[in-house]
Amino acid sequence: MAFAEVSTTIIQQFEGIIGPENVILDAERRYIYSHDETEDYSFLPDVVLKPGSTEEVSQLMKLCHAHTIPVTPRGGGTGLSGGALPIQHGVVLSMERFTKILTIDELNLQATVEPGVITQVFQDAVKEKGLFYPPDPASRGSCFIGGNVSENSGGPKAVKYGVTRDYVLNLEVVLPTGDIIWTGANVLKNSTGYNLTQLMCGSEGTLGIITKIVFKLRGLPQKSVLLLIPFVTNEEACKAIAEIFRAGVQPSGLEFFEREAALKTIDYCEKVYGTKVTTPFPSSMDAYLLCELDGNDDEVLMRDAEKVMGVAERFKVGEILFAETSAQKEELWKIRENISPAVNAYTLTRAEDVVVPRGNLPTLIVGIKEIGRKYGFNSVCYGHIGDGNLHINVMKESISDEHWNTTIPEGIGKIFQLTVTLGGTLSGEHGIGIAKKPYMPIAMGEANLNLMRGIKKVFDPKGILNPGKIFS
Ligand code: LAC
Ligand code: ZN
Repeated sequence: MAFAEVSTTIIQQFEGIIGPENVILDAERRYIYSHDETEDYSFLPDVVLKPGSTEEVSQLMKLCHAHTIPVTPRGGGTGLSGGALPIQHGVVLSMERFTKILTIDELNLQATVEPGVITQVFQDAVKEKGLFYPPDPASRGSCFIGGNVSENSGGPKAVKYGVTRDYVLNLEVVLPTGDIIWTGANVLKNSTGYNLTQLMCGSEGTLGIITKIVFKLRGLPQKSVLLLIPFVTNEEACKAIAEIFRAGVQPSGLEFFEREAALKTIDYCEKVYGTKVTTPFPSSMDAYLLCELDGNDDEVLMRDAEKVMGVAERFKVGEILFAETSAQKEELWKIRENISPAVNAYTLTRAEDVVVPRGNLPTLIVGIKEIGRKYGFNSVCYGHIGDGNLHINVMKESISDEHWNTTIPEGIGKIFQLTVTLGGTLSGEHGIGIAKKPYMPIAMGEANLNLMRGIKKVFDPKGILNPGKIFS
């Protein structure tokens, strides 16, 4: 499909709909919208539009649809697969003015929010009422909740509480044609036709613009314990994971990181936040599991913590740290949450997000390191291992640009092939966007891709919404 230019006449029409102050043409300001947190990608939009209501989004989409102008919706810009990047230029539609928490319904344990609310702001608002919105991506202090729905974000708590999609009951969506729909109903059960709500979750802004979200909420667990378990090798740590669940324990977080990740993060936290980390990370221990248990009963929590320690001790472990104070817990979570920014501050990386059935993690981690040796790259691995979801940051360091752009992508393809052989898939929570798009055929057959293309065409006959993402 040939896209049209954003002409002066169209700019004037945009200004008529949302006001000139919400139409960004200045190159320096547009540049901010040209990149997200994905590698070193940058694509400059011709114009950035900042609508303030569903009606305005609808009018903008009608105009862009009529003129075949590409539109890339954008949340907080923290994405790790390039989903919000305007690779065809045209319009970036920023949802940054959609910042209202519209209702928190304490009777029905539901909340209705606009997509530009920062995830942590939403979590804190429901917490004040004794309620709980569990999905907690590491970027929750700056990502938008609408972006979380679009990418189906996860985070540490997913292992017990599920991912973003598990909390979405209903969505108000502006279709690429400008039509406004609600995808479902504000109910806990629904067998009324195809599930359009869930189709939107994780669709990476390719099917419609989300303008309101109805979430379900939970009661807030009152207590938690946190264990840091050091392992001699990352393979040993990965072997312990399935056993923890087999012992009948359900952690509310089961995170993994290599020592290398911790060291880089300690350095980073000292430089960026001025905080001195007191937790020891001895050189004899290569890998760590961070295990959180939550609930409302101290005795149950202690019994489960003992079970976890009992399982861990069947492997080659060091001294287990039981975080006693909230300061200690905060320090450990801070290390975990800052791994991605820390490694990216150290060197350019390609950040992968594979997921396999838990029992296959030991084979995966050994395989990844072998592929790294063969293709000449170092990697730092960490992630939501209780879900079988491993982040692999392949590091550029002193690798030449040529090698980085040819041999390394081939090596990453081998990681994906191994993942799929182990019953896994390409992304657990970061999405496909443009970064993983070339690898989609490893995980999806042509019949699957054609179904997806067909769905896209029904929603977006002219292909104007977030073009070139997920599949070609
Ligand atoms: C994390 C992000 C990278 O888990 O998903 O830290
Ligand atoms: Zn993650």
